[in-house]
Formats: sequence, C-alpha cells, structure tokens
Amino acid sequence: MSIENQQSFASFLDAGNWNGYADNANIGSEWADISRLREIAGGFCPEEARQIATQLIPDDVNLESVYASFAQLQNPLGISTGGLVLPDFQAGLPFTDDLSKLFFPDVQDSTKKSDLSSAAQNQFADNTYSDYSFLRDQEFNYNNRDVFDVQSIRKDFPILHQKVNGKDLIWFDNAATTQKPSHVINTLTRFYQQDNSNIHRAAHTLAARSTDAYEGAREKVKDFIHASSPDEIVFVRGTTEGINLVAQTYGRKYIQEGDEIIISTLDHHANIVPWQQLAKEKKAKLLVIPINDNGEIILEEYERLLSPRTKIVSISHVNNTFGTILPVKTMIDLAKRYGARVLIDGAQSIAHTPVDVQELGCDFFVFSGHKIYAPNGIGVVYGKKEVLDILPPWQGGGNMIQDVTFEETIFNGPPARFEAGTPNVADAVGLGAALDYVSRVGLINISKYEHYLTEYAREHLAKIDGLRLIGNPRERVSVVSFVLKDVPTPEVGRLLDKEAGIALRAGHHCAQPSLRRLGVEATVRPSFSFYNTTDEIDKLVHAVRKIQSNR
Ligand SMILES: Cc1ncc(COP(=O)(O)O)c(C=O)c1O
Repeated sequence: MSIENQQSFASFLDAGNWNGYADNANIGSEWADISRLREIAGGFCPEEARQIATQLIPDDVNLESVYASFAQLQNPLGISTGGLVLPDFQAGLPFTDDLSKLFFPDVQDSTKKSDLSSAAQNQFADNTYSDYSFLRDQEFNYNNRDVFDVQSIRKDFPILHQKVNGKDLIWFDNAATTQKPSHVINTLTRFYQQDNSNIHRAAHTLAARSTDAYEGAREKVKDFIHASSPDEIVFVRGTTEGINLVAQTYGRKYIQEGDEIIISTLDHHANIVPWQQLAKEKKAKLLVIPINDNGEIILEEYERLLSPRTKIVSISHVNNTFGTILPVKTMIDLAKRYGARVLIDGAQSIAHTPVDVQELGCDFFVFSGHKIYAPNGIGVVYGKKEVLDILPPWQGGGNMIQDVTFEETIFNGPPARFEAGTPNVADAVGLGAALDYVSRVGLINISKYEHYLTEYAREHLAKIDGLRLIGNPRERVSVVSFVLKDVPTPEVGRLLDKEAGIALRAGHHCAQPSLRRLGVEATVRPSFSFYNTTDEIDKLVHAVRKIQSNR
C-alpha cells in the first residue's frame, strides 16, 4: 500500500483544520486543545506521523509550539521526565525523541525527501510492522465482515509470520493464550529502555515515570471494564491468583460453617479448586449449578440452589471448553436477591465481549492479561469499592502498609492493600497497551468477525465423517470442541502440529467436570481470534479430514 493516508491528512488540511491545529498549538496549555491534538496524533502510527508530518507541515507553522504541545500532551502532569515520554500517554503517539527529530530536523530538505521515500517504502513493505497496521487502511469498515481487513491486522502480530514444521503457523490456541501485537511488544521494550524503576517508593524521575505508567495502566483497565474508580482495580498475576485472592480474603473472613458457595459445572479448575479448599477449611458447602446437553446453564436449577445461606456465587462469564456465554447479568440479579456476593471469572470473556462491571452489578470481576493480547503474568481483580474496603489484606509486605512497628501494622487502603511487594510494573503497562489496541479495533467488531469464523468452522468441521462437535450453546464465543472417532485426542493435536503447523489445545482444558458432563474426557479445541482467517480454517478442515481418512 502506498501512503494513501496522506489523503486523509491532506483533506484535513484542506478543510482548514490545519490552521486550527497550529493555532491551538500556540495556545498550548489549554486542556481542550491538548486533547484535540491528542485525538489527531492518536490516529497515526509513530512511523506514519513522522513521514506525514515531515512532508505536509507548512513552513510557516510555529513548530516549536506544536512540539511543546505534544510534549505537554504526553506529560500533562508536568512531571519532569528529562525530555522523555510517560508511557501511559504513548499509544499511537510519536515519542518525544521522534518528535524532536520531526520538528527540529538537523538535516537538509533534500536529504529528508530521499530518506523519506525509502522510509515510506520500508514502512509499507510486507515484512515491517508498525503498531497499528490496520489503521492505515482507509477502506477498513469493521462492521462488515467482507471487508474486515484481517491481513492488515495480522501485520501487527509478528509471531504469526513464521513456519512451523515447514508450514505457515496457524495459531488456533487463543483460548489458552493470545499472541501479542507490536504495540504491546514495543511498549514493553520502551518501558525497559527508558522508564524502568520500582514504583511509589523513590523520589527520582524514573520512579515518577514508572509510577505514572503503572497507575495509567490501572486507569485504562478501569475504563475498559467501566469500573467507577481506579481504586477498584487490583493488579495480580492472572485469573487464578485473582480468584485465590478473593477466596482467601472475602472467603476467609465472611464464609463460615454451614454457609454455601455456588459455582457451575462450566467452570475452569481455577474457579473450582480455591473454593473447594476454602469450603473444606471452613466446613462450608460447595454447590454446583448443572448444565444441559448443549453445555448451557440450567437457570431454574441455579435458582433452586440459591438461599439465604449463599455467601458467594463464583461463575465463569464464558466457558473455555464449549465457548458458552453464561447469562451472568440474570444470574447476578438472582444472587443479589439473597444478598450473596458474586465473582465473575472473565478469563474467556474479556477479549471477546464488552464488559461493564457497573451494569453487571458483580462484586468481583477477574481476568488475565495474556488472554487479551497482553503479556503473561499480569491480571486484574476488579472489586466494588465498598467490598474492597471491608476486606482484610491478603499477603503482607511492602507497599500494602501505611505504618509498621514491631507491635502492629496499619494497612493501606485498596488497591495498594492487596498489592504487597514490587508489582509487575512493565506487564501492567503492557496490559494498558493491549487494551488500547483492542479498543482501537473495537470489541464489537472483533466479536462479530470471530462469530463469523466460528460459524464457518463449525459448519465445515461438522461435515467431516466421524467428527463429533461437543457442546452446542446458543450464545457462544469463538471456541469449538470436537472429538474424532477412533483417533485419540492427543494424537489429533500432535498430527495437526506436525502435518499442518496448526497449534491448538487437545486435552481436558483444565475443565474436567464440564467435559465429563458431556460424556468425554478430552476434546480437540480450536479457538479463534480476530487475526485468524477462513483460509486457516479451511486448512484445519483439510488436515482433520486427512487424519480421519488415514485411519
Ligand atoms: C475460564 C477460565 N478461568 C480461569 C483460567 C485461568 O487463567 P490463568 O491461567 O491465566 O490464571 C482460564 C485459563 O484458561 C480460563 O479459561
């Protein structure tokens, strides 16, 4: 593709907006103008911004004030950063370094022009990755699956462009973990190259930058799941740790002998074992909501389980074996009639469906970053403010205290109370970048496209002789489970990898009760993301057919 997005920038200038932009830049310190600048700059990748602006900025624009505005835009709190940028304001924006090169070039115009054309070619060569390839395509209409430019999205995911066992890698193991876009990888690199420090504790510049980046990520999570305050966002390692945190704080304090904990047959082991352990310790009862043959919750049975003894309902938002979306809003409303707390395990929903924790009315919502294109080892516990306020600390150590003597410790309020020790700062920042990326594509667009892929896969897989789809929920995300007659499930997984370069999960998916309820011990589980294609699904269907016919 040529640099056609000059067009949009040019029409922006033609419409007279450029002058407004420059004027606003002169005003500089006014917030409204700053956010407008941010909006404009945010629409371009760093590389593109450099190219486009260098070519198009008129000579008479006051570049110094434009630069100053950008600098302020990226560091609105005015924290001295030694000229470097706070990462939480970086998404889609050029770096200050890049900007100074951009606005104060020490090269002659002619050199600039020739550099530019080769830079432009490199930028759009197939083997280079910018942070937001999909934004380059002016024709990209996310709402229409026929023109959902998946190839453009794929350029943002470097790992996808490799051969495995001599075949193009096909990543269908997205329910286990997702791949990372360049924007996330670059954000991590920049963080370690420029900002790395422990947070909150030191009075130096890098500590201030790291702290701002970390707290900025908390703010992004808050926005993404529509929490009411960043204080409701606790960073943990992932969903498993998050559920354990709630079981060990809320559970230990409020669940007593004879109380009841409700989970469902559709739950992952991460939402079974911690409650089972707690129930044993406290002599409480663990009740399990049954499912039907399609792999769906039986709501009437759930209603029957609820009672004033129910202390907590802890359920998956989306099941990881059949892709079932649970009617969590209804289930939360029902639980609330009995005054029970509700935890939603969002590990499988966060990347596929928009989440609004306030609208849901849950007390806790937990998820793992790695399921939504963010790094491993970072996750989130959302807790309603009034609930977090009454919970005891979980782990003890630094950061979670206000004052310590040998006799007594005064604990911090949430979220610090639950974040003892040095947190995973870089990966939290990476999570913020991943949420930015997903927000730019749009979760609605993502879910529509993934739905299309899933229906396509189910339709074509179902036609294979000897293949049985397991689970058939009406409301589902992009997970498909199947077994092949006479071919052991692990063998199918191994052959798909070896013969077709296809990575998927073949086993019990850490959800043995749900599989056993539908009569199997293991399934083959392709799970799709918005970077997958129907072409890849055709290859899967072809490879499975071949495995079957070779039996
Ligand atoms: C529904 C569900 N809950 C919990 C988990 C555990 O997530 P993690 O291993 O990231 O803690 C998973 C992981 O697959 C999952 O699918």
